[in-house]
Amino acid sequence: MIEFKNVSKIFASKAGPLLAIDNISLFIEKNEIFGIIGESGAGKSTLLRFINALETPSEGIVEVNGTNVATLNNRELRLFKKQIGMIFQQFNLLGNKTVEENILLPLELHHYDDALDIDQILKFVGLEGKRNSYPSELSGGQKQRVGIARGLITRPKILLCDEPTSALDEITKREIVDLLTRVSETFEITILIVTHELDVVKDLCNRVAILDEGKLVDVLEVSREMNAFQSDVSYQELAREVLLNE
Ligand SMILES: Nc1ncnc2c1ncn2[C@@H]1O[C@H](COP(=O)(O)OP(=O)(O)OP(=O)(O)O)[C@@H](O)[C@H]1O
Ligand SMILES: [Mg+2]
Repeated sequence: MIEFKNVSKIFASKAGPLLAIDNISLFIEKNEIFGIIGESGAGKSTLLRFINALETPSEGIVEVNGTNVATLNNRELRLFKKQIGMIFQQFNLLGNKTVEENILLPLELHHYDDALDIDQILKFVGLEGKRNSYPSELSGGQKQRVGIARGLITRPKILLCDEPTSALDEITKREIVDLLTRVSETFEITILIVTHELDVVKDLCNRVAILDEGKLVDVLEVSREMNAFQSDVSYQELAREVLLNE
């Protein structure tokens, strides 16, 4: 459903050209919850941003449902992007709008035939009592629930999540992981989640790609049985150990 074919990305930087994504090929199935992990600067966000054309590859092809994203004209791109929702580490809510207004924002920008009802989505994310509150009156977890509701109200086929739990404490993180699990069970949706938190991948994902310095090092099937974390091994070893129970 989402396919990367020999994708590379070179950024211009002060120190010269930077190979941020190095010849990555990867296939993500429809309705998967797919994780992307790796250390800071590994290329995780860049890989995610190819999917909704926020970045364009320097080489290679990104296909979504058989469409090469790079071949779309502006009008086609607008339609294409309507099927993709995104949620962020810092929530990206508008401070001068209420919870309800923030969630409804995508529907003001474009027309959607199939959008969810505001009452439905408020109930789904557990924010019925907060519809008239402003972001400054919410906890981090509640803000992310608003972000998720805003991402879902358009009923997207793909939800891109960039570090959705990284600004949250442990308990709140669990709640957001549970909510995203429920999203996956409830909607016909493919979820991609970038994170550096292995326990989030462990509890949420079917498969996970490990990136290191722009390279795809491994794609693992996630095993659900818990394993202790160890700190004296490399990130990649740790990932294998925690996710595969090796
Ligand atoms: N617009 C840009 N211009 C120049 N360099 C960039 C740009 N965007 C990203 N990079 C560089 O590309 C590399 C990969 O960046 P990316 O944001 O994808 O990493 P990441 O894995 O998401 O890291 P983090 O965990 O810190 O968010 C980094 O070295 C980054 O500095
Ligand atoms: Mg990033």
